[in-house]
Amino acid sequence: MFKRVSPYIGEYKKYTVWAVILMSIGIIANVTPYFFIYQIIAPLTRGEHIDASYILIRVIAVAICEIIFSVSYVQGLEFSHISAYNTLKNLRISLQSKLERQPLGNINELGTGRIKKVFTDDIDQVELLLAHAIPEGIANIAIPMIIIVLMFIFDWKLGLLSLVPLVVGMFAMGMMMKSGLEKMNAYYESAAKMNNTIIEYVNGMEVVKVFNKDGDSYKRFGERVKDYRDFTLDWYKVCWPWMAIYSSVLPCLVLLMLPLGSMMVLGGVVTLDRMVLVFCMSFAVGPSFLKALNFAGKFPQLDYKIAELEKMMEHPPLKEGESAFKGDNLDVEFKDVHFGYDDAEVLHGVNLSFKQGTTTALVGESGSGKSTLAKLLVHYYDIDSGTITVGGQDITDMSLEALNDQVSFVSQEQFLFNTTLYENILIGKPNATREEVLEAARRAQCNEFIARFPDGLDTQAGDGGKQLSGGERQRISLARAILKDAPIIVLDEATAFMDPENEEKMNAALDEIVKDKTVLVIAHRLSTIKNADKICVMKEGNCIAADTHDKLIISCPEYKKLWDASVSASTWKVREA
Ligand SMILES: Nc1ncnc2c1ncn2[C@@H]1O[C@H](COP(=O)(O)OP(=O)(O)OP(=O)(O)O)[C@@H](O)[C@H]1O
Ligand SMILES: [Mg+2]
Repeated sequence: MFKRVSPYIGEYKKYTVWAVILMSIGIIANVTPYFFIYQIIAPLTRGEHIDASYILIRVIAVAICEIIFSVSYVQGLEFSHISAYNTLKNLRISLQSKLERQPLGNINELGTGRIKKVFTDDIDQVELLLAHAIPEGIANIAIPMIIIVLMFIFDWKLGLLSLVPLVVGMFAMGMMMKSGLEKMNAYYESAAKMNNTIIEYVNGMEVVKVFNKDGDSYKRFGERVKDYRDFTLDWYKVCWPWMAIYSSVLPCLVLLMLPLGSMMVLGGVVTLDRMVLVFCMSFAVGPSFLKALNFAGKFPQLDYKIAELEKMMEHPPLKEGESAFKGDNLDVEFKDVHFGYDDAEVLHGVNLSFKQGTTTALVGESGSGKSTLAKLLVHYYDIDSGTITVGGQDITDMSLEALNDQVSFVSQEQFLFNTTLYENILIGKPNATREEVLEAARRAQCNEFIARFPDGLDTQAGDGGKQLSGGERQRISLARAILKDAPIIVLDEATAFMDPENEEKMNAALDEIVKDKTVLVIAHRLSTIKNADKICVMKEGNCIAADTHDKLIISCPEYKKLWDASVSASTWKVREA
């Protein structure tokens, strides 16, 4: 387990080592006073005279031990926390960078609840491992061991006696770990499910309210919460008896030592002073061991959580090359592209190419694979077979940054960060000046609605951009794309779900964005793409025809059907060639 976490500790490993050393010193300082106490009591048991200075020196020694204990223990804890929290930071950054390189599909499959749980709760568990379990655990195991060895040296019979509760305690702990392990996995699964359901419940609140599904939705929520309770209790039920045994038996060394030790003294088997010494030492064994065993009980949980963490990190990353963009033109080609989100194939060998500076439209029924094809061009997912090239270079051969420099994607679902509108646009080109951002906002027809906000462009977009209407959100993301000014633009139904007024503004904005660009556009209103250089008709995951509007309307019955069905004409037209 430590080995798994160890790469993330990095340069802070020395802090963990120092923490173990300091805590061991602290615990030695904590048990040494028993020896001084013995030195005072032993002569008294023999009826010997001891003077005041003899006692005073030992009392001072005890006080010094306590100071050493406090200082080194606290310092040890500080070091172990420095190491732990830096490791948490490294783990989170590393997980984030690995997630960033994953196909979006994998992230969706994992679920927000599970990702959140791993990022926050599971990674936090590493704190317990590094800040407490390792330094304190090692120290608390090592010290009782040393004491037991010393007990054997002083008197092997008493030493043997001291082993009895330890053996019973360790057996109970072993049993607890063994029987709890099976239940523990079920418990964690139910915790993950509960997290996902809670997040889904909150995210879907709007739908739930609109469709009066409070009852249904709450039922599922309630079931998950109850499941979690049941699994937790199940787990505790098998652990409790064992926990009770070791927690009560371990500190019992004193109880055992007192009667049996006394009998041994009375029987002349051991001397009284030896018995007193071992008796004093036995006070330090039980609690230390109990503490160590409590940590040991946490190890299976930690192991599970770290395994979860690793599972998330081990997903194969997106096939991403290192190269820069090397193409000498911006022609795009999809060659025999097969792709499925999971086992079911969605695209069945799509062939489509379009030249630099042209506008290509994707049309087809809902679910025919248009958005999927668009997302593949921006490398949201790895394809199963075939190739996608830009300027003759396979997109898997270039870095995502290189591809992103060439392609802007305005997707069907617009997401705005919970920061100002200004910063949301700035994402398109982080080093842009304020004037450039304002100009992009103007060209994307954002000025009219921005003027309504007292803070203008510095207005907060709200969580996920909730302060804005759908059309306004799309125009902000268009401004982002205008600012980015990439030579290839992929527009996924940017005009869908809009009222006529908003659509008119959007169309004007689109006219701005497509000037002199290579464009792949998806639009449901076919009138808007009538003048496209090429129209690709998608049907059930295949590109069944690709030509101009005039030719397709004659040669392709599916296109004719779509055209006839296409609702009200839109004012935006692709530029006449
Ligand atoms: N994230 C996903 N996971 C699994 N299947 C998906 C996912 N996204 C889309 N699909 C499936 O892939 C198929 C194609 O979807 P896609 O979104 O590409 O269609 P579309 O042509 O853009 O439809 P629309 O016109 O309604 O936007 C559909 O059958 C859909 O169910
Ligand atoms: Mg779509």
